Amino acid sequence: MSVKVAFFDTKPYDRRYFETHNRDFSFDITFLQDHLNPTTAALTRDFDVVCAFVGDEMNREVIDVLHDHGVKLIALRSAGFNNVDLEAAYGKIHVVRVPAYSPQAVAEHAVTLMMTLNRKTHRAYYRVRDSNFSINGLIGFDMHGKTAGIVGTGKIGKAAIQILRGFGMRILAYDVYPDKDFAKECGCTYVDMETIYKESDIISLHCPLTPENVHMINRDTLSLMKNSVMIINTGRGKLIKTKDLIWALKAGLIGSAGLDVYEEESEYFFEDRSEEAINDDILARLLTFPNVMITSHQGFFTHEALTNITQTTLENIRLYFQNDELPNEVCHQCCGEDGKVHKEARKGQKKCF
Ligand code: NAI
Repeated sequence: MSVKVAFFDTKPYDRRYFETHNRDFSFDITFLQDHLNPTTAALTRDFDVVCAFVGDEMNREVIDVLHDHGVKLIALRSAGFNNVDLEAAYGKIHVVRVPAYSPQAVAEHAVTLMMTLNRKTHRAYYRVRDSNFSINGLIGFDMHGKTAGIVGTGKIGKAAIQILRGFGMRILAYDVYPDKDFAKECGCTYVDMETIYKESDIISLHCPLTPENVHMINRDTLSLMKNSVMIINTGRGKLIKTKDLIWALKAGLIGSAGLDVYEEESEYFFEDRSEEAINDDILARLLTFPNVMITSHQGFFTHEALTNITQTTLENIRLYFQNDELPNEVCHQCCGEDGKVHKEARKGQKKCF
């Protein structure tokens, strides 16, 4: 049987990786540039699988269309599944994801943002190319001996801690589920959030977005921080109330900010909008600060991560159609809002329903 896959939001790199690895699977993949949403769901008629990414919208309306069209599986090319209505999908369409592809990729990108902001290489590059060899204004600080506050010590947070320990930094950490053994092994200390805010020279966010931590970086928490603090966010945009971040940057209350994610990123990130005016005034204002570095959600974007994403996604599809165990399935009965899959709920089941 030839499995027909509708692949939404295709970028040139997706196509390259999937075409190469699909040689081992031979699925019949149709690459579409559109995002999946209530309008484009009409394109899925007679497909067995929909392959989707973070900007695709799988609400109840879309799920119902997919189900009517005979789609049996949603194969997410991401770890996060907050864009799928799992309750609507339950009993109709199975959903699989790529739980981890390269924590190092994201951690290394967070450190890239830190080093760029610190040593101002983004500005030095342009100066030297313009034959301006002055180093005025490019002064940075030694990372060695400074304090990093890591929020969220899961796979990515831990990888970041290991890199920063290599620089000789003191590490403070916060997690709703602290890993005491890791702390001992790695020489970091779990503290409360107030201590992170008050004592850190760099604060790096590596936790998921949950109802409890929306806008955790806001006027109140920014006011607790050192005036020189660098804030790094590779987690999720809504962890930071961007208007308040701009307020703190304008008032000189913080040193710098490196953002790989942004509250309203879905309008802009991953797309080339260089021919248009930016209508989002908050994003436009952020782009004016010399001490703000924005990247377009590229933390995951390494060869190793793309290889893992591609291989796991294709393998997830294979397992489904061979009626095998589906280790990467998510459903509203076995997943918490924190993105964790509660294995107990799946015990003894090949599939979630
Ligand atoms: P993980 O699940 O391994 O770790 C998350 C950690 O955060 C867990 O230890 C959890 O206990 C902790 N946590 C949950 N709620 C918290 C809270 N309110 N405060 C502090 N800690 C909390 O996840 P992983 O793989 O380390 O990813 C972390 C986040 O990074 C993801 O949720 C995602 O938002 C983001 N991410 C960003 C990417 C990028 O390209 N920029 C790519 C992949 C993930």
